[in-house]
Parts: sequence; structure tokens; C-alpha cells
Amino acid sequence: MSYQHIETLSWLGGTDGTLRLIDQTLLPSEVKEIDCRNVETVWEAIKKLRVRGAPAIGISAAYGVITGMQTLPQDASLDAFKNRLNEVIAYLASSRPTAVNLFWALDRMKTKAGSLYGQKAVGGIAGALLGDLLDEAKAIHEEDRTTCRLIGKYGQSVIKDGDTFLTHCNAGGLATADYGTALALFFAAAESGKKISVYADETRPLLQGARLTAWELMQRGIDVTLICDSMAALVMRQGKINGVVVGADRIAANGDTANKIGTYSVAVNAKVHNVPFYVAAPVSTFDLTLPDGSLIPIEERLADEITNGFGKRTAPEGVKVYNPAFDVTPAELITGIITEHGIITPVNTDSVRKTVCRFLVE
Ligand code: MRU
Repeated sequence: MSYQHIETLSWLGGTDGTLRLIDQTLLPSEVKEIDCRNVETVWEAIKKLRVRGAPAIGISAAYGVITGMQTLPQDASLDAFKNRLNEVIAYLASSRPTAVNLFWALDRMKTKAGSLYGQKAVGGIAGALLGDLLDEAKAIHEEDRTTCRLIGKYGQSVIKDGDTFLTHCNAGGLATADYGTALALFFAAAESGKKISVYADETRPLLQGARLTAWELMQRGIDVTLICDSMAALVMRQGKINGVVVGADRIAANGDTANKIGTYSVAVNAKVHNVPFYVAAPVSTFDLTLPDGSLIPIEERLADEITNGFGKRTAPEGVKVYNPAFDVTPAELITGIITEHGIITPVNTDSVRKTVCRFLVE
């Protein structure tokens, strides 16, 4: 299969532009892009997982702010600008609760706006401010590209030539601006000439592993074998797995890590089978306001994702369902957290602070 680069998301035009996204709910059978022309469609795209993965959600929300501000007349007053900005940010923040990159990106947009309020002339303020906010959204987008390359560069050091790694969910280019976090390790290892094989958990209930990770790895020519989530323990016991790497949605100050539901089981299995378990994530995924993972808000999604996945009923009508979208892996099960500033190991409050504090405002 030849590698065809497709932008996960891009901004088309100037301050009156639109956000273009690959609709990830249609992959792998259809590669289709959608244009979000207003904040409501950006919100819907995040909520429905048309765009998903913590960094990609953050970038989309930053651009979503621009679409939300487009309804304001160019000559709106500063007060009107501030009111609308607060409204748009609160709305986008209500789309999904767990990935902290969403709130991090929205905070950055708000802080940027705050830094501009005193500087711009009062007349025609909205038009002038919006250009600077668009630059900030583009900066968040561009920085993520660099961040993912650095995560790949540092992270590939944990992979030896000939290794087989297991991953869960999708923390690839589709979940970021480009290149991914967990999958960046595989891409960078392969680019440096190492032979690498990957087992991808299918990742119930929405199959991000089967639909997105297997697709992305095949696109890039990485050897990938798809398994059901329930097979991970067996392949570890069979000695097929040299290491695990996953992404993250929110990492508490002590290193406890929220990621896609099922990650915790993988980490427990890795511990039992003496397989190193790594998390790969940018500093923007850390939430130092939370001392540990018990405080991370976990999204619960609709029952039909489990009972009626992909249009076919697979459970009795009326059955009770519990559908948390994420779980928290305790820090003691994590061998290392790979960031754009290096690898945090061992994982604890002190080591997290040492690497992350300088780069993150609490
Ligand atoms: O519900 P999703 O598909 O948004 O969940 C995504 C994950 O759990 C990813 O592993 C995480 O966001 C890291 S993406 C680099």
C-alpha cells in the first residue's frame, strides 16, 4: 500500500475561513473531508468523534473559536467581543470532558485575547483581534507537528531492532496535527532503520484501533496485526510483545494517566507479564491541578455505542449499559511517559514536576 498523506485537519482561508477535517467516523471504508463553517459544526465534530484524539481535539477547538467569533460584526465593541469569546469558549468546552488538551487550547486562546485587549484601538476591534487569534490557533497547530516529531525522536529509543509493540486505541497522525504520539515511536523507529512490528487492539466499542490505527500503520508500511482487546493478555503470555505504548487524554500530577477504555487492563496485563508499558503524550496533556487520577473527569457515552455499534443490534433491547469512554492507569504501572522534552521515568509526582512544570502554567 503506498503512503498517501492526508491532513487530519486544516484551516482554509483567513479570519472568515473554515476548518476542514477528515471525518474519522467513516474510516477506513471512506476517506472523506468535511468543512466546518460555524462553531456548532466544530462542536458536533468533536462530540461525535469525527475529529478525535486529545491533541487533534485541542487544535480543532482553537480553530472552532475563530468560527464562533465570525458571527460578530467587524466593528463590534470590545465588550461585545469579550462576551462572545466567553460564550464560544464555554460552548466548545462542553463538547467532551476528559481530554485536557481541549481546555488547554481554549485557555491559550483566551489568554492570547486577554493579552491583546489593551493593545488594539477601540474602533473596529473585532476584526483586528480575530487575526491575532487565528495566528494563535495556527501556532497551536504547528507546535503540535514539532511536538509529535520530538516524541517520536525520544520515544524510539525504547524500541530495539526487531521488537514487537502493542498499542491500544489510536494515538497516531489522525489524533494529532500529524505523526502522532504513541505511533510516532513506530514511525521514528522505522525511519531510523529498525524493523518493528505492531499488535493493534481493536479497541471496543468504537474500534479506533481496528479502523484507524491498523489503517494508519498499513498506510505507512508498518507491519501490523489486529487483535481483539481480549487477546492482549494471551499475546503477552506467548512472549510476542516486547513493549506497550499508548497515548493519553489527561495525566495527573502524579503520572496517573487517563486514556481510552481498556488501557488500564493492558497495563495490568503488561505488569503481570513483565512487559514495559509506556505512555506517549505532549506536555499539554498534563493536568497539574489534579494531584492524582481519581479526579480526572471520565466521559460516559451513549448505550447504543455498545448495543448497536455500526448499525447492527448486538444486545437485547432494554439491557442496562455502562459505557465509560476512558479509564485511568495508575502511575505505578507505567514504565515511562515519553514527552517532547524527554522521557519521565520512574513516574511519580517529583519526576513529573521536574519535566513538566517549566512548560505548563498551572
Ligand atoms: O475517544 P477518542 O478516540 O478521542 O480517544 C482517544 C484516545 O484515547 C487517545 O489514545 C488519546 O486521545 C491520545 S491521542 C494522541
